Formats: sequence, C-alpha cells, structure tokens
Amino acid sequence: MKATAQISNLKDHVGKEVTLAGWVYKNRPSGKLVFLVVRDGTGLCQCVIEKGEDSEGFFQDAKHLSQEASLFVRGIVNADERSVGGHELRVTGMEIVHASTDYPITPKQHGVDFLFAKRHLWFRSRRQYLILRLRHTLVDAIRSYFNTNGFTCIDTPIFAPSAGEGAQTLFEVDYFGDPVYLAQTGQLYVESACMAHGKVYCFGPTFRAEKSKTRRHLTEFWMVEPEIAFASLSDVVDVAEDFVCNIVSRMLNDHRADLEELGRDIAELEKIQKPFYRIRYADVADLLRGPKAKQLLEDDLTQKAARIGELEKTLVELEQQSANAKKQWQKDKAAQDTVKAREEISELQEQIKNIPHHMELAANFKMGSDLGGSDETIISRLHDRPVFITHYPAKVKAFYMRQDRENPEYVENFDMLATEGFGEVIGGSAREEDYDRLLARLTEEKLPQEDYEWYLDLRRYGSVPHGGFGLGLERTLSWICGLRHIRETIPYPRMMGTMYP
Ligand code: 4AD
Ligand code: MG
Repeated sequence: MKATAQISNLKDHVGKEVTLAGWVYKNRPSGKLVFLVVRDGTGLCQCVIEKGEDSEGFFQDAKHLSQEASLFVRGIVNADERSVGGHELRVTGMEIVHASTDYPITPKQHGVDFLFAKRHLWFRSRRQYLILRLRHTLVDAIRSYFNTNGFTCIDTPIFAPSAGEGAQTLFEVDYFGDPVYLAQTGQLYVESACMAHGKVYCFGPTFRAEKSKTRRHLTEFWMVEPEIAFASLSDVVDVAEDFVCNIVSRMLNDHRADLEELGRDIAELEKIQKPFYRIRYADVADLLRGPKAKQLLEDDLTQKAARIGELEKTLVELEQQSANAKKQWQKDKAAQDTVKAREEISELQEQIKNIPHHMELAANFKMGSDLGGSDETIISRLHDRPVFITHYPAKVKAFYMRQDRENPEYVENFDMLATEGFGEVIGGSAREEDYDRLLARLTEEKLPQEDYEWYLDLRRYGSVPHGGFGLGLERTLSWICGLRHIRETIPYPRMMGTMYP
C-alpha cells in the first residue's frame, strides 16, 4: 500500500476511499467493532473496522494492534463532527508495517523524569507534538518579522574567543590546544554587521553554563538578536514592542485551536497589544516594596491553600470512583486524575513554601541590585501587558551597555517582562558607542583589552549610536503556550544534569 492522503486534508476526500500511513495512537476493540485512532504526523483520525466478510482478512489483526504499531489503513472518509479531527475512516483494508509491542509510554500518567528519559518517543504524544509544532511556527514568525522589515540575517559563530555576557556562565572548549568558548550571544558580531547592513539579526543556539536548575534556564537555548544602526534606546524598545505584538498575533492566528487544546488562556494572549508598560528600574524598587506586591503574595497564600483544600476533596472522590468503577477504563481514568491532583498539590505546597522568602526579597529590595526571578514574577503579575524595565545600574549589567549620560551610574538598557509571571523574555540595550567610555568599562570588568580590539575598532571607524536586543525562543514559547517549565519547549533540553538522549 501507499498513502494517498494525509489526515490534515481529509476534508478534501469526504465520501472517497483513501489510504493513510501512520501509527496506532489508541486501540479500543468493542465486540464487532474496532476503533483505531491513528496519527500520521498531521493529525489524529478514528478508523472504524467492522467485523464482516469485507474485513475477514484483517479484523483479528486490527483487534490486537497495540499502541504505536505502524500501518497503512485504507477506507472511506466520513465527515463526523464528534470524531477527533472531524473525520472518520470506514476501513476497507489494512497493512501492518511493524507491530509494536509494550510501548513504554502508555495513557497512564508517567513521571516527568521518565518521560524525559524517553524523549525520543515522547515526541509522539499529542501535547509534545503540539508544542513542537508551535515552536516551528514561532521560528517562522520571528524570521518573517525581521525579513519583511528590512533586516538582513547574519549568522554569527558558535566558537567564540571571549565572553559576550558574564564570564561566570562560559562553557570552555578545547580548540586545538587553546581555550575558546561556546557563544553566549551573537550580539558583538551583529553589532559589527549592522555597521555594514544597517539592520541585521542573528538567530541560533547560544550556551550558558547556568549552574541552577530553574524552570526558566537551559544551558543551550535559541536566541534571536536584532541590531540596528543609528538607533536610540527608545527606537529599540519600539521595535521590540512591535515585534512581540506581531509574533503573538501570528501564533493566535495560526494556532488558536492548538493553544486551546494545551489549556492556554487565549484571552490573556489577546491582551498583548500596544502600548506595553515602560518603567524605570528606580520605580521598580518602589513597586516591589509597596503594598500591592505584598497584597499579591498574601492573596497567593490564601488562594493556593484553598486550592489544596479543593484538591484533597477531589482525591477522596476519586478514591470512591475507583472503588465503584465497573470498567477498567474508569479505574484507569481515576488513577490518572489522582496522579495529576497529587502532582498539583505537591507543586502548590512547594510554591507556598517559597512565598515568605519571595515576600522578604521584595520588601527588602535594595537599589543598586539586580532583579531576581521572584521580583520579575511580581512585577510581571502586577501588569496586564508586558513591561519594559529600563535604566538598570551599570554595575549589574554587561560592559557593552550605553552609559546614561544624565545618570552615569545607570545604563540605557531594558528587559521585557512577559505577562502572568513569566518574567524576562527579552534583554536589550543601546550600546556604548564612545571609545573611551567603552574601554573604561572593559577595564572595570577586568576584561582583557586585546580580546576586544576588533570590537573597539567599531568605535574607531565611523561609530554611531546603535542598539538591539535578544529574545529567548524557549522562554517566549513557554509564555505563549502557558507552560510553567521551559524544558518542554525544546526538542532535546540541555540543563544541568540533563544530557540523555
Ligand atoms: O538578557 P540576555 O543575557 O541578553 C543577551 O544575551 C544580549 N546579548 C542580547 C542582545 O542585546 N543582543 O539574554 C537575552 C534573552 C533573555 O531575555 C532570555 O529570554 C534568554 O535570552 N535567555 C535564556 N533562555 C533560556 N535559558 C537561559 N539560560 C537563558 N539566558 C537568557
Ligand atoms: Mg537578561
């Protein structure tokens, strides 16, 4: 057999006979019928096999097909709204390609560690499938935005001779006997390119030796970095705002149903409209120490405790349901829901444990220090649209950021915090274009001048005000999909302690 249609375009074949090539997602035999849900990489389709003369050759085989068996299945396409994907196949023939047995990822609830160890198979599960499809579109949306707005894509190297961001997060590689580093950013290189092309961007993998296992950090992640010549801080912020609105709206447009299936609150994404908030670092301190932040966390404590109470009741009900269940699938369902409720309870308990600490950090926030993850979460949750925080203290930021001429202790930079507590997804700045000031910053940061001679050249020959930003692909995807943890947004996540497969 040979495939003649894909599940995603069955609507063009209603009433006709087609052959699909795919894998068994679920199999539910029921007396004289077998209901096979098949997936083919474009969607899911229920295939119905009726016992009778026509199916004599394959009815028994179909009945015993297990999850992930690969097959060709031929049948007549029926439009059926109640069916997954909106169509159903009345099967007329079938050819098994490979009968899979004991597929390790079953419909029962598995732990996260187990699923990541089976990442190469987990891709096939519906939720993972959707997330990576959304990633694919997001990458396209990002490239399209810059390509249609006059930016030239300039690829930057992955082997780098020196630090681009903080020296603490460098991965060292042996390069024919000399130490070099995996790129933390392509920024310094796109800065050179914008002096040739005006508006440029790079988009590729970047590496940070982050020694913490947080829900926001990967050691290998993708970043898009536009860089613009003759641009001020506010010009760059305007581009970031327009860009974020554009990609969010593209995702809503192309993937509304998928986002709903992932449980994303669409209304929250629809709020991502101009203008975003623009506040200065100095005002953030007041916000963090103020009554609104305190109230937010106190309400959190009450709400989370109440939710735990609800879930505990649910657990008792589920126990009864399981005891009274007549069918195996009812027992399985109750078991699945029990695992889910228990996981949510332990997550809530963990969060409750951290709240007093977060309250203390916010209340005692000191001017001059960097914002921590929990501070960002608070600021982000106090706003219904993204927030640009500008003008951080120079001391906590990278050497290349432009000194604020009016307040020399501060720099012309910005972080963009996404909504709903997702925190920073963009970091950017105007770059120091003045040779002497840049050199002074390099010296202050104890960075060897000889490593940056090429970069200083950009300030020797026709230097202009310029700036840009970096948007993390995975953090942005977590935000758009509403995933608490970043690890599901990349095919093979790399974090401290995670390298297989
Ligand atoms: O704020 P960062 O470190 O800025 C830069 O690298 C600049 N050179 C960008 C520029 O101006 N061209 O990183 C930018 C973004 C962050 O806002 C975040 O979205 C993402 O990159 N990011 C990470 N994502 C996942 N895991 C990590 N460890 C990340 N570190 C940064
Ligand atoms: Mg940053």
